[in-house]
Order: sequence, then C-alpha cells, then structure tokens
Amino acid sequence: MMRALRKLELTLAILKPDVVAHPNILKEIRSIILQQEFFFVRSKKLILSPTRANEFYKEHEGKFFLNRLVSFMSSGPIWTHILARENAIPEWRRIMGPTKVLKTIHEAPETIRGRFGLTDTRNCTHGSDSPETAAREINFFFPEFSTDRWHDTEGAYFYNGQVAFNEDLCQHVPLQHVSDSIS
Ligand code: RTP
Ligand code: MG
Repeated sequence: MMRALRKLELTLAILKPDVVAHPNILKEIRSIILQQEFFFVRSKKLILSPTRANEFYKEHEGKFFLNRLVSFMSSGPIWTHILARENAIPEWRRIMGPTKVLKTIHEAPETIRGRFGLTDTRNCTHGSDSPETAAREINFFFPEFSTDRWHDTEGAYFYNGQVAFNEDLCQHVPLQHVSDSIS
C-alpha cells in the first residue's frame, strides 16, 4: 500500500440528536464511516447547551431556521468526531448527502441523510465545509487537540495503517499504544 504517500485530511463530524437517540442507526452510520475508510481520530459524546449551539452555528445568524436548529442540537446527546481520510472534508459531505432531507430522500436515497434523515432540520449529521471551517470546528469541540502535533506524532501510525479501531472509545488507536498498555 502506498498509503504513506497520501495526505490525510481531518474534518469535524457530528452525529446529531436524532441519530444518537437511535442506537441501531448510530451503529449503522458508524459502520458506514468505517467502510468508507475513515479513521476516527478523536470522539466525544456530549450535550450542547443552547448557548454553545448558537456559537457553533453563528454563521447562520439571522436565518429563519436558526432557532429551530439550535433547539434541536441542544435537545439531546450528540457524538462529535475528528475524522481522518484522504479528502476527508468533501468525502464526508458526499456520503452525508445534501442538506435538505425532504429532497435528498428522492435525489440521493443511498446517502446517510437520504436513508436516515427525518426532516430538513433533523438531518442526522454535520460535516465541516472547508479546511478553515474544519480547523475552527475541531478546535470548538477538541480545544486540547493540536492538528500539527497529531500529524507529527500519532499521524505516522495512521499513515502506515498501524492502528486498530477501539469500539469502546470509538477511536482508532495507534498499535504502539495498544502494546504499551498491555505490556
Ligand atoms: P451541516 O452544516 O449540518 O453539515 O449541514 P450543511 O452545511 O449541509 O447545511 P447548512 O446550510 O450549513 O445548515 C446547517 C444546518 O441547519 C439546518 N437547516 N435547516 N429547515 C431548514 O430549511 C434548514 N436549513 C438548514 C440543518 O440541520 C443543517 O444541517
Ligand atoms: Mg454547514
């Protein structure tokens, strides 16, 4: 494999409250993410306060759907993930499918939103839309995470495929660290 020569891009994914409320759908979406050869670099389950949700979606200030979106996003637990892959940003958005579920169920029924989306608001997932947004959004949920440090340290294990998926953490863990912790 020439994986080492490829560039791993990081993106921020959110599995929204509609997904987290349904364990089978949550599981299915995770398995789609793994099948599509994304790595789970970091994962966190949390409940977003309305204030934090407003801050996260501040680009949508003034839009008619913002209040509905903020109450939905703070209505229950979400999972946030730093995902890594070649072209992670566009690829994650591609498998999510278009925003508007009520159209997407007809136009892209094989995508995550097409399969599991409920409404234009309750549309399963979020994905960063550019490298700048990804950096801001990763920092929003994982302020302790440094992308540069990750590339310089753990990143090498991911480039070489020397990682294993840990279901409890919902993270890929460098194999070196696995053997450290059992020896
Ligand atoms: P996201 O930010 O969640 O990855 O989705 P996106 O880029 O495809 O959509 P965006 O335009 O950024 O909108 C953010 C979220 O707002 C909700 N929304 N509701 N009712 C509506 O017409 C409407 N439009 C947008 C969705 O939850 C969307 O994901
Ligand atoms: Mg967006």
